[in-house]
Amino acid sequence: MTTRVLKADQSALDEAARLIRAGEVVGFPTETVYGLGANALDGAAVRKIFEAKGRPGDNPLIVHIADLDQIAPLIEGPLPPQAQALAQAFWPGPLTMILPKSGLIPPEVSAGLDTVGIRMPVHPVAQALIRRCGRPIAAPSANRSGRPSPTAAAHVLEDMDGRVPLILDGGPCGVGLESTVLDVGAQPPRVLRPGGVTPEMIAGVLGPVEVDGSALRPLEAGEVARSPGMKYRHYAPRGAMTVVRGARAQERIAQLYDRAQAAGQRACILALEAHMPCYGQRRALSLGPDAAAAAARLFDLLRAMDQDGIERIFCEAVEARGLGLAVMNRLGRAAAFDFIDAGEEGAR
Ligand code: TXA
Ligand code: MG
Repeated sequence: MTTRVLKADQSALDEAARLIRAGEVVGFPTETVYGLGANALDGAAVRKIFEAKGRPGDNPLIVHIADLDQIAPLIEGPLPPQAQALAQAFWPGPLTMILPKSGLIPPEVSAGLDTVGIRMPVHPVAQALIRRCGRPIAAPSANRSGRPSPTAAAHVLEDMDGRVPLILDGGPCGVGLESTVLDVGAQPPRVLRPGGVTPEMIAGVLGPVEVDGSALRPLEAGEVARSPGMKYRHYAPRGAMTVVRGARAQERIAQLYDRAQAAGQRACILALEAHMPCYGQRRALSLGPDAAAAAARLFDLLRAMDQDGIERIFCEAVEARGLGLAVMNRLGRAAAFDFIDAGEEGAR
């Protein structure tokens, strides 16, 4: 199969909608990351997504809608008041709500669960595509399973060349990390995957919110993942990565980098903009000035590490609140939770 990449203009959108209605899979931009979309109501089409990604069959997909009217047929019972309040506050936007699913959702989408994740993206291309198809679109991130999520059409092509007929190019994604996944029905509501809509923002609407423990640590032996995606290694660059936090992080990173270099490893540092001068002549790339900037460029940087043949990555931590929680969650997964604390005592 040849993969075409088309600038997301009107005629490309028509072609993408035609393909999706015909049961094919198309790469498309959202404000979070690029998605790999198919007709959410067509089990056979959805199976093609799993094949293209090499995704385990027990990891459910998010269903994307363009209008609140589209939600009723997809869920069991009426939309709960909490979900209505969240939709009002954050849709369209980077929030996925887990809700009881209706019989219309094929088992391929929900991977056998009795719930479905629903999100209304704000990206104009995603919106236009869903409207043109006239159907909800099931879409995971458009990376091969285990690779960093794509935040540009070129990343999608890197992973999906020859596997899907069309990729719509809508430029770089604004948020750069996947949506927040929220179990609205839990008491209190529980963030299963931190993302662009922060726990603080959700708490502002609903009151107390819990963040799943697995956000910042690996699953323990025997622990069941509330969100099946949490149990897989994710976002992983090929080089081994270590995340260093604490007051003496820069000093410690410089030391670790020098040691790796001396051992003949090709190493790279990822640092906040303000700390770049601390690293002198060492190979270092900037995460940007703050957590929001780091979110927007993190996956692109991880892919760049691979392209550059980097074997050892040392990354500064950001503060794990607001969008920083989502950044630390992805860094943890990319680093297989190899976190070092470099506090005043420099202990490990
Ligand atoms: O921003 C995003 O959410 C992007 C764009 C394309 O919308 N999509 C995305 O999909 O990140 P994916 O498949 O890469 O991640 C979906 C996550 C997985 O961790 C999955 O396990 C979880 O959401 N999930 C989906 N449906 C679920 C459900 N019914 N219950 C619990 N977790 C669910
Ligand atoms: Mg994904």
